[in-house]
Amino acid sequence: MRIDILTLFPESIRGVLGESILGRAAAKGILDIRCHQIRDYTENKQKQVDDYPYGGGWGQVMNAQPLKSCLDAALADAAGLRTRVIYMSPQGQPFTQAKARQLKADYDHLVLVCGHYEGVDERFIEQCVDEEISLGDFVLTGGEIAAMAVADAVCRMVPGVLADEQCYTGESHWDGLLEYPQYTRPEEWEGQKVPEVLLGGNHAEIERWRRKQSLERTMRKRPDMFEALELSPEDQKLVREIRKDKARRKLTEPLTCRSATEADLPAILEIVQHARASLKKYHVDQWQGEYPTPDVFAADIQKGNCHVVCYQAEIAAFFVLTRGPEPGYDQLTDGKWHSDDNYCVLHRAAVRRDFRGTPVSGVLFDFAVNEAKKSGAAALRTDTHRKNKAMRSLLEHKGCRFAGNVLVHSEEGHDPRRQAFELLWE
Ligand SMILES: C[S@@+](CC[C@H](N)C(=O)[O-])C[C@H]1O[C@@H](n2cnc3c(N)ncnc32)[C@H](O)[C@@H]1O
Repeated sequence: MRIDILTLFPESIRGVLGESILGRAAAKGILDIRCHQIRDYTENKQKQVDDYPYGGGWGQVMNAQPLKSCLDAALADAAGLRTRVIYMSPQGQPFTQAKARQLKADYDHLVLVCGHYEGVDERFIEQCVDEEISLGDFVLTGGEIAAMAVADAVCRMVPGVLADEQCYTGESHWDGLLEYPQYTRPEEWEGQKVPEVLLGGNHAEIERWRRKQSLERTMRKRPDMFEALELSPEDQKLVREIRKDKARRKLTEPLTCRSATEADLPAILEIVQHARASLKKYHVDQWQGEYPTPDVFAADIQKGNCHVVCYQAEIAAFFVLTRGPEPGYDQLTDGKWHSDDNYCVLHRAAVRRDFRGTPVSGVLFDFAVNEAKKSGAAALRTDTHRKNKAMRSLLEHKGCRFAGNVLVHSEEGHDPRRQAFELLWE
């Protein structure tokens, strides 16, 4: 892999990339990292590389000419290489491990252009740059740190740079997970011991523990990454275990239930948003359109039908309960209701994602039954999508009986088929 870096500060880059693993790989000829001083390519006596911005405003803008001449020099002996010219810019796509992998796979020559001051003349970008890459949504004084980050992330995947491919394929972000925790000697440090499993020498057990740790910390530290994972059946089993562990560990105080107020609406909508993503992940065609909209919840709250389940000061879940009769439930097929018209309906309900797998869903159901009883109802009816396994197993676990099938047309263009359940008391 060859990398040419165009910069006003080549020494700062040589100092960093010439050290340690990359420095040794360059010395062995595995990497070819070249730094070019843009100032050497000016065509004025003062060696000025920047000028005032047309139209006025703060700072200086780097001239296109020295950048282009410097680039031409860098490309002079690169014919035949698969080259990509990249401008390091806060306006580029944020850099990721996936991007590093793609650059390493598709090119054997990267030219990284470092801007400074207010940036570079736009015409240079338009004429010479293949893509812009950002280190993140913040602004640096120059592109050098970003260029070094890109060069480092790409170069460490070049064969021979690290001892083994596994050194980077097992690391965070390679397959959408964060890496498991690492420990080294001594076995005990300041009263803290290395986890027992790592000392036992059972490789299958160690692998399983590490996978579970990776899943757990991805779930906890980067829920956005966790939501995007495609879990294998084995991973799903580990996730269930993690949630059970979490439940045992976390809920040290009782859950409470109260009527929702308007102030709870943002928290409820956030739960809905995550529930929507989770249902999508499990291919459940429920809540996949606009429904349930903020207006629906605002109306539920106004009518006193929406309840929140709280853990300490946080909203852990919500449910909407109304008094029957529910018009759509008259059209039940493939079965029959056992309750008369004196029933309540459990409608919209969801648990906040970090409380999933805890007792919250079960307690939510108990609260709903309690509210229904308080209203004088003799039964609770509800319905769910046939693929919503979590809801179905909760209902079955709580003693609800499958009553038949109903059609619920609240979501235009989506599967309206729902399985109906009921619970009777007394
Ligand atoms: C002060 S910045 C210029 C920012 C520019 N005026 C803007 O608002 O988009 C100077 C140089 O630092 C580099 N730079 C700053 N932030 C960066 C980031 N997040 N990622 C990559 N390069 C960055 C770019 O090369 C840029 O030309």
